[in-house]
Amino acid sequence: MLVNHREIIKSIYDKIKNYVYLLQKHIGQCITMKIIIRDLKENECVCDALILPLHEGETASAYREIDALVNRLLSTVISAREFSGKHGETSLIHTMKRIGPRRILLVGLGKRGEVSPEKLRQAGGKALSYLYGLGMKEIAFSPGRILSATHSPIPFVEGGLLSLYQFKRYKKEEDNSKGIERLTLIGKPEASLKDSLFWTVASSSAVNFARDLINTPSNDMTPTILAKAAKSLAGGRVEVKVLEKRDAERLKMGAYLSVVRGSMEPPKFIVVNYRGQKGAPIALIGKSITFDSGGISIKPSEGMEKMKYDMAGGATVLAVVKAASEMRLPVNLMGILPATENLPGGTATKPGDIVTSLSGKTIEIVNTDAEGRMVLADGIGYVKKFKPKVIIDIATLTGACGVALGNEAIAMMGNDSTIMERLKKIGDEVYERVWQMPLYEEYLEYIKSDSADLKNTGGKTGSLVTAAYFLREFAGDTPWVHLDIAGTAWTDKDKPYVPKGATGMGVRLLSTLLKELKDENF
Ligand code: BES
Ligand code: MN
Ligand code: ZN
Repeated sequence: MLVNHREIIKSIYDKIKNYVYLLQKHIGQCITMKIIIRDLKENECVCDALILPLHEGETASAYREIDALVNRLLSTVISAREFSGKHGETSLIHTMKRIGPRRILLVGLGKRGEVSPEKLRQAGGKALSYLYGLGMKEIAFSPGRILSATHSPIPFVEGGLLSLYQFKRYKKEEDNSKGIERLTLIGKPEASLKDSLFWTVASSSAVNFARDLINTPSNDMTPTILAKAAKSLAGGRVEVKVLEKRDAERLKMGAYLSVVRGSMEPPKFIVVNYRGQKGAPIALIGKSITFDSGGISIKPSEGMEKMKYDMAGGATVLAVVKAASEMRLPVNLMGILPATENLPGGTATKPGDIVTSLSGKTIEIVNTDAEGRMVLADGIGYVKKFKPKVIIDIATLTGACGVALGNEAIAMMGNDSTIMERLKKIGDEVYERVWQMPLYEEYLEYIKSDSADLKNTGGKTGSLVTAAYFLREFAGDTPWVHLDIAGTAWTDKDKPYVPKGATGMGVRLLSTLLKELKDENF
């Protein structure tokens, strides 16, 4: 059954009186905001601050109609060279009660010819987080004539929503009085604008949902708690099933269970189904190691605290299911989160141990720190029983990923070039860029074991690709794509719309892929 999500969105608008469009949403744990599209003149919009974008070198005359005095103020700031329109530059001007907006925030977009959706996202992030910092409650944004002619204003809003995310759960003493209550987008409420705003709010709140899960430390994000987070999505077309350790034993998930052994926390193999359509599912598997100490092959202590983010793949999968179900996308999704800790307990797996995976292949564990591919191997084995159209796994799989690509690109490998090409294109658009690495058959030699079918690492040389090659052996002929987000899932420094910590990278990439697939009856 195909769902026309535009119809559903329309029924939401129709319920709303007075406002043309209103969304009241939790965008991450501490943001609830009304977002409104209104067709009115800038000077009539009563608010704490009105954001006006300007290109580099352009004058305020584009906004001449606002108010004569205000326009002079704008011109003065520009001619005094206090504002030049450089990308990301801001200047706040008080309007002395001459017009509805109490302040105007000029924001630079850079050179006219160089504007891109990503530049807009960054400018939106800069503008909204700045106004949030000042404690502004009611904010309006006018794309004006400047923007609307060539670009959609939506990425600007998206950057704003993503930039406001904060992880404040453990900051008990902080002042929480700040918070933007209303964001008004000035413009004609055309169907296409409403649709894309609705989508952006759903996907931004999914990104912030993933960020919350990932930032939460492992003592409060155990496999059990992750399973609870998954269950919070259940209802409607979403069904959540949690397999316990004894279920995994019954199913003979020897690879997954080898990682489980060293930990006292009960593992949870989480299965989330979203049925927006009939037919074979699209399987998404997210690495969900709630803490990776390395196990007996223990990691150095420096930086180990960051290994709470080793469940970022699983959080991404949950967030994608959340966005897909909120948008009622006509896709059949099966999300898998093989969750466990990787710890060096007395019963932990030891290097040299050999286990049998769900698929029947035997694996020699030469390094217990190569645990991600073990849990993913059984995740792949599990979903293959449902004959998926495609398997996409997303994982903080290798340190080598960050060494190769830094914080800038997701490493991609797989056996399905059609989906990979699409992911590349979408990655460029949403700016969660992916870079393909090769899977030459020669890499198989690296992971051959003397005593088992495979070993779980081929050593340091080529470890980004040999990790993927290992997974490929389990995917077999099923169309499969692997995304390594070890370099991109976390940032140590603030970026224009990505506060430091968990980035939520991969959520917009995969949810946009699903949104596009819906049109094809995939
Ligand atoms: N979770 C790590 C990979 C990782 C490292 C993610 C740094 C994020 C930041 C993974 O389980 C791991 O330990 N991989 C090892 C594999 C090696 C032992 C073959 C690695 O890449 O060093
Ligand atoms: Mn590891
Ligand atoms: Zn790991």
